[in-house]
Amino acid sequence: MSIKLPQKLMLLGSGELGKEFAIAAQRLGNYVIAVDRYANAPAMQVADAYEVISMLSVDDLEAVVKKHQPNIIIPEIEAIRTEKLLEFEQRGITVIPTAAATNYTMNRDRIRELAHQELGIRTAKYGYATTLEELITVSNEIGFANVVKPVMSSSGKGQSVAQDKSEVEKAWNYAIANSRGDSQKVIVEEFINFEIEITLLTIKQWNAPTIFCSPIGHRQERGDYQESWQPADISEDKILKAQEIAIKVTDALGGAGIFGVEFFITKDEVIFSELSPRPHDTGMVTLISQNINEFELHLRAILGLPIPHIEQLGASASAVILASQKSDSISFDGVADALSEKDVDIRLFGKPNAHPYRRMGVALAKGANVQEAREKAMKAANKITMI
Ligand SMILES: Nc1ncnc2c1ncn2[C@@H]1O[C@H](COP(=O)(O)OP(=O)(O)OP(=O)(O)O)[C@@H](O)[C@H]1O
Ligand SMILES: [Mg+2]
Repeated sequence: MSIKLPQKLMLLGSGELGKEFAIAAQRLGNYVIAVDRYANAPAMQVADAYEVISMLSVDDLEAVVKKHQPNIIIPEIEAIRTEKLLEFEQRGITVIPTAAATNYTMNRDRIRELAHQELGIRTAKYGYATTLEELITVSNEIGFANVVKPVMSSSGKGQSVAQDKSEVEKAWNYAIANSRGDSQKVIVEEFINFEIEITLLTIKQWNAPTIFCSPIGHRQERGDYQESWQPADISEDKILKAQEIAIKVTDALGGAGIFGVEFFITKDEVIFSELSPRPHDTGMVTLISQNINEFELHLRAILGLPIPHIEQLGASASAVILASQKSDSISFDGVADALSEKDVDIRLFGKPNAHPYRRMGVALAKGANVQEAREKAMKAANKITMI
């Protein structure tokens, strides 16, 4: 892979993660085309060009690629017609991390089969169902409590916990009502009573060994992350175990770029959950916690630029700033107050519309220890209100 700059980068998905990536790319003078299904998406606000299309439409994808002729296509979301990416790749456009990898990670079942069946990696016990009757049978096999998720969904959509037999039908109806696409398939997983869950940011490079960031701990609610922190307090042997698993899965997927590999950590075990072949939302903490953040790492890996050293800068945290109501004319109060404390920073994503619980920004903080960093980040996030 040549490292001549600038490159023409096309982002498929233009949310807050894409926005930070676009900024990183432009700092090295690259040309960025931001694509999403709605106008004025965060990354479009900082890109050289933008396009509003349906990323599930083969014709729309063909039209924007033909028009802009990118060297590299960088997916930011899962809901993309990935068969078309395969075709682009065959035509000589680099797809990150690879077109096949985007296809593997689009749905929960393929990546799970790869990890568990092909690579023998420990995951939660799981099964699939395509009807309520099947779900009842599989749930009984797996036991309770269990977690029911549509195989096609993200951000916790359609996901719920069935505590016992009486909750299976409710979980089925909820999953089917919130499934992306026309898939009727759900995955049922044993509920893991973890001590902590982590994201291991894993950087796969074209011509250099895979490297890692210090693990990031996070807390989820309603299927979305609420706060994340780095470093996560887990033992060295568990970190090594997680790294070993991350190498196995990302090697099987191939290509280059950053991956957010999610694990449940119990008292005795490291359990693989899922992964994103791109920067991870919980990794926004690296905007304050590292010398090179996850977006810059993604960029360097994609372009084949060296990453000589990743420095963790000490206890750091991020806390999300959520919308409180539906609105299409958004302004925020409390920003000055939030920024009045030392070692606190914020990002407001510039999303054009809000609805309750939509992520509008993030507060970042450093502290003497993780506890203090988390408190500072939460406090700053809570000071910011939508008016
Ligand atoms: N088997 C399980 N046992 C316990 N908790 C679980 C299990 N599966 C999921 N969860 C909880 O739900 C969260 C979201 O699940 P998962 O990561 O599978 O879905 P997702 O929709 O891809 O979420 P995201 O897109 O935010 O990563 C997890 O981070 C974890 O907190
Ligand atoms: Mg997840």
